[in-house]
Amino acid sequence: MSFNSKILIVGATGRNGRELLSQFNENNIHVRAMVRNIEKTKKLKNATTELIEGDLSDPESLKVAFIDIDIAYIVTPVHPDSVIWFSNFFNAAKNANVKHVIKFSGFGADINSDSEVLRQHGESDKQLMESGLTYTILRPNSFYQNILWLSTQIKARGKFCMPLADASQSFIDMRDVAEATFNICTSDTHKNKIYKLTGPESLSLNSMANKLSSATGRLIKYMPITIKASEAGMKAAGLPEWNARVLAEIQGIFATGAYSKTTDDMKILLGREPRTFTDFAADYANHF
Ligand SMILES: NC(=O)c1ccc[n+]([C@@H]2O[C@H](COP(=O)([O-])OP(=O)(O)OC[C@H]3O[C@@H](n4cnc5c(N)ncnc54)[C@H](OP(=O)(O)O)[C@@H]3O)[C@@H](O)[C@H]2O)c1
Repeated sequence: MSFNSKILIVGATGRNGRELLSQFNENNIHVRAMVRNIEKTKKLKNATTELIEGDLSDPESLKVAFIDIDIAYIVTPVHPDSVIWFSNFFNAAKNANVKHVIKFSGFGADINSDSEVLRQHGESDKQLMESGLTYTILRPNSFYQNILWLSTQIKARGKFCMPLADASQSFIDMRDVAEATFNICTSDTHKNKIYKLTGPESLSLNSMANKLSSATGRLIKYMPITIKASEAGMKAAGLPEWNARVLAEIQGIFATGAYSKTTDDMKILLGREPRTFTDFAADYANHF
């Protein structure tokens, strides 16, 4: 693919950023990846990826990262400062006359959400929409790949514990989200749009456990736990207090079944059906 715009990726060392970077690498399109520590991320550098050091909390570093950039993508971690970080990024994009900003948000992002994380995204999404910048906002539901966080307990005990009761959710494959994002970055047809990204079906964790069992040939069970136990477990595993609290909070919302709706947005962005959880389970069976 021949493509002349200069692209900046922020968050390229993270789960979604790495998938997106692979898309650009596979298509031989040059990108600039802003990383916090070049020394630690040297292996990302290749013929199509240029690295630049920068930090979202440091506007001066963003000024340098944005030199000559036409299109800028941002994903941040779940973090108490994310609204400030997004704001710094949008200001830098505006000052650099960037033509298109692609922001990673979350399904249900809303300034009035019961979830602090989704209120943060709602606030930043609103700021971007009102900034005068040309934007595309991606609001994906939870990823199939989140279950990889539980692969150690699944391997050891043949079960995984989550506080989602018997609720269904329209989970999505991160690889599809990256391909959709790549298509957005390299096309003019998705400007000033918000996409609600879901997989093709709504699934309960019991049915995901059954699909993992079929893919691995081992019995894998889902054990529902309370939200309180989930928060305590995340803290015990070393997650900072704030992260454990806001993640448990959002799990409580997922457990109501409020995130089970599917949309057709992925079909529009991919030109095909998004991957099913059965596809994911087959591809990742060796992790479990
Ligand atoms: N989990 C889900 O199911 C789900 C679903 C929908 C939406 N989301 C949203 O997805 C996002 C998280 O995505 P992810 O899992 O891909 O994130 P991630 O793996 O935690 O990656 C975060 C990236 O941000 C970088 N970063 C952290 N602090 C930074 C700073 N101060 N300046 C510049 N870069 C910084 C990290 O770089 P380092 O390598 O330097 O740390 C890393 O590259 C959140 O906004 C979340 O709300 C998640």
